[in-house]
Amino acid sequence: MRSDRTTDYFEIVQRETEQEIVPGARTTVWGYNGTFPGPTIESRSGRRTVVRHRNDLPVPTVVHLHGARTPPENDGYPIDLVLPKGGDHGDHSSMEGGDVSEGQRTYAYPMQQRAATLWYHDHRMDFTGPAVWRGLAGFHIVRDDEEEALDLPAGDREVPLMICDRAFASDGSFLYPSRDDSLMGDPGVEEEYMDGVLGDVMLVNGAPWPVLDVAATTYRFRILNACNARRLELGLDPAPDDGFTQIGSDGGLLGSPVSHDTIPIAQAERFDVVIDFSGYDIGDEITLTNGAGDGDMSEVMRFRVASTAPRPEPLPEKLADMSAYDELDESAAEVTRSFEFEKDGERDGMEMWTVNGKLFDPERIDAKPARGSIEVWELHSDPAHPIHLHQVSFKVLSRNKNDDEPLPTDIGWKDTVDLKEGETAHVLVKFDSYPGKYVFHCHNLEHEDMAMMANFEIT
Ligand code: C2O
Ligand code: CU
Repeated sequence: MRSDRTTDYFEIVQRETEQEIVPGARTTVWGYNGTFPGPTIESRSGRRTVVRHRNDLPVPTVVHLHGARTPPENDGYPIDLVLPKGGDHGDHSSMEGGDVSEGQRTYAYPMQQRAATLWYHDHRMDFTGPAVWRGLAGFHIVRDDEEEALDLPAGDREVPLMICDRAFASDGSFLYPSRDDSLMGDPGVEEEYMDGVLGDVMLVNGAPWPVLDVAATTYRFRILNACNARRLELGLDPAPDDGFTQIGSDGGLLGSPVSHDTIPIAQAERFDVVIDFSGYDIGDEITLTNGAGDGDMSEVMRFRVASTAPRPEPLPEKLADMSAYDELDESAAEVTRSFEFEKDGERDGMEMWTVNGKLFDPERIDAKPARGSIEVWELHSDPAHPIHLHQVSFKVLSRNKNDDEPLPTDIGWKDTVDLKEGETAHVLVKFDSYPGKYVFHCHNLEHEDMAMMANFEIT
C-alpha cells in the first residue's frame, strides 16, 4: 500500500495458487494475490482508494466492489473485461462491446460513503459463479470517524467471517458443473444445476468448519454469506443471553443495537454483529449453527472460550445517526417500478432465469431513475431470489409473506434483499449515486450467470 494526501493505492495480482483447504489435498485456487479469501482492503471514508488489479489468470476477469458507490467505469460492469496477458477473450461473442483492457486495470473508488462492510468479487458476464467458486472474493472495509468514536470491539476482537460452501473432487480440486471447464466457451452451468450449485463443505475464511479461540468478552463479527446459492440461518449453541447483537447491515451501522436469536443471511448479505462470550466458562465451545442446513451443513464453525478477559463495556445505546433512514418514507417516492424474477426465457435451447421475462442484455436499459430521486421498487420473486442493486442503498418497506411488515433482520440500509418463494417486497431506493449505467440482479450466482440481471441508468 502507498498513500498520498488524498488517496490510498493498492495492488492486487489475480493468480492461480495451490492451497491446502481440505486436509491432505491440494486445491488449485484462483485468488486475489493468490489467496482465498483475497486480502482485506481497508479504506477511510472520504479518502479515494485506487486498486490496480493485474490479471495473471487464464481467463478474463471483472472486479466488482459490492456495496461501493463509484462512477460506472469503476463498478466492474460485467463486460468491462480485464483480459489475460495475450488478450484472449474466449469464443463467447456476447462479451463484445465492453470497455476492455489487457493484462491489468485500475479501479478508483471515491469512497464518499459511510463506514460499512463491502466485499469485492469477480463479476464477468455468464461466468461469475465458477470464478467466485474458485476463490475470487475478498473483504473491503470502509471506516469513518462516527464509527471509530464508538469504541466497538476492535483489533483481534473484530473479525470478518466469509462463509461459503464448496465441493471438492477426491484430488482436492474444486468441483463445479460448468458447461465448459475452461470458462472460455459455453457460458453458465449444466442445466440440472441452474437452480444453484451447493457444496458439502462449509468454509469460513477459506477453512472448513474452523474453531476460533476467543477470550471471555465481546467480539465484533462482520458476517458475509459468500455462497453461490446457499442461504443460511445462523444461530448460536449454546446461545448467550442476547444472542446476536446486530450493530450493522449491508450499508453500515444501525441507529442502535438490535438482538436476534437467529439471523437469516442470503448470498451477498452482510450482518455486523457483536457476540458476548463473557457468560461462558473457559473451555466452553459455542457452535455457529445453520438452521437452514442438514447434517454437516447444519454447522458453520465454533468459538472456543480460551482465556479470561476484563468485563466488557456495554455497547453504546446509540450507534449512528440514522435520521436520513428513519425519515425516509414512501411519500418521498415519485415513481414505482415492478420487477418479476422468474424462470422464463431460453438461450441455446436451455431454460433461463429472467427479470420481467427478459434475459440480461448489456444494451437494454430497464429503468432510468433520476439522480437523487427516491423510488419504490416492487420485487416479485418466484422461486426465492436474493436481489441486489449496485450503487444504491434501500430500505425494506414490506414483505407480503410477513403480513406486509419487514423482518426484524431487514433493518438498516440494505443493498441485497432475500425474497422467499412467491414473495413480493417493496423497497424504497435512494438513487443518490453517480450518473451512469449499473446492473441489478439475483445474487444466486448461477441465476445471475443464467441471465437474471438487468440494467438501470441513473440520469
Ligand atoms: Cu455482489 Cu453484482 O454483485
Ligand atoms: Cu435467483
